[in-house]
Amino acid sequence: MAIEDGSITPETYPTANGMPMLGLGTWQNTDAEQCAESVRTALEMGYRHIDTAQAYDNEEAVGEGIARADVDREDIFLATKIWISNLASDDVLETARASLDRLGVDSVDLLYVHWPARTYDPEDTLAAFSELYEEGRIENVGVSNFLPEQLEEAIEICDAPILANQVELHPMLQQPALREACQDHDVEVVAYSPIARGEVFDQPAIQEIADKHGTSEAQVSLAWLREKGVTAIPKATGEAHIRDNLESLTLELDQDDIDAIDSIGETNRKVDPDFAPWN
Ligand SMILES: NC(=O)c1ccc[n+]([C@@H]2O[C@H](COP(=O)([O-])OP(=O)(O)OC[C@H]3O[C@@H](n4cnc5c(N)ncnc54)[C@H](OP(=O)(O)O)[C@@H]3O)[C@@H](O)[C@H]2O)c1
Repeated sequence: MAIEDGSITPETYPTANGMPMLGLGTWQNTDAEQCAESVRTALEMGYRHIDTAQAYDNEEAVGEGIARADVDREDIFLATKIWISNLASDDVLETARASLDRLGVDSVDLLYVHWPARTYDPEDTLAAFSELYEEGRIENVGVSNFLPEQLEEAIEICDAPILANQVELHPMLQQPALREACQDHDVEVVAYSPIARGEVFDQPAIQEIADKHGTSEAQVSLAWLREKGVTAIPKATGEAHIRDNLESLTLELDQDDIDAIDSIGETNRKVDPDFAPWN
């Protein structure tokens, strides 16, 4: 097995611009004890990236999981997000500090604008993000759910560099234009809902590739994303799913597999609130 044979190590873990390319998502992992244990389990198994947000109501539990894990803080890439009601500059500064307190850390590796919505104002919001960056409270600035034109505007305005745009991305929502826009600006793409919230298990082309490799549909989806240069943050609660997803790091798809996934014609967006910029 990949993990037991030592093939996934801090040295072999893939990174994109310093960001570990597989992370643990935590949305809806809200039972505090369960969430802390999911985070601890993932870190001790070898994960090096954890994704949370103010809106997930679990930053304290994520911090508890990090504290429990026998892994040094400096070896963990920790990301959180400022919610859409907190994007006025004073609120960014105040609530980011509250997030750090809940997480029990001095700084986070990545702080995202969760959505370009409600109180988001490019100049005002990003000035506060740059201030946090200058103070060393955040190692990187990120945006999430930004359309290409919003990303370009943010790059133009923000004094600090923008590391990543976190968007929904999986074989049934391949987002080619958005990936290209990010690549043109040297912005990393982070895929949320990378296994389509479980629906990759029902996709015939992915089922076929999973059977061929004797692996799970989740691993196929995650390996395809990695092949595209995209970082993925699957959410998993228990040890079996956490392990299955980590083992995707050792799955190599061949060109036929990639072509077959590239040509899945189906579109299935899983996260689509009214305030999304595409609505
Ligand atoms: N920026 C944003 O606006 C935004 C939006 C959505 C999500 N996100 C982030 O992205 C993360 C991932 O997205 P997501 O939670 O929407 O969906 P996802 O990761 O695509 O799917 C999670 C679901 O798949 C199940 N699962 C995970 N691994 C599995 C495996 N190997 N085999 C079978 N089932 C498996 C999980 O079950 P168990 O929990 O039972 O393991 C859960 O029900 C979130 O947790 C969050 O951190 C960000």
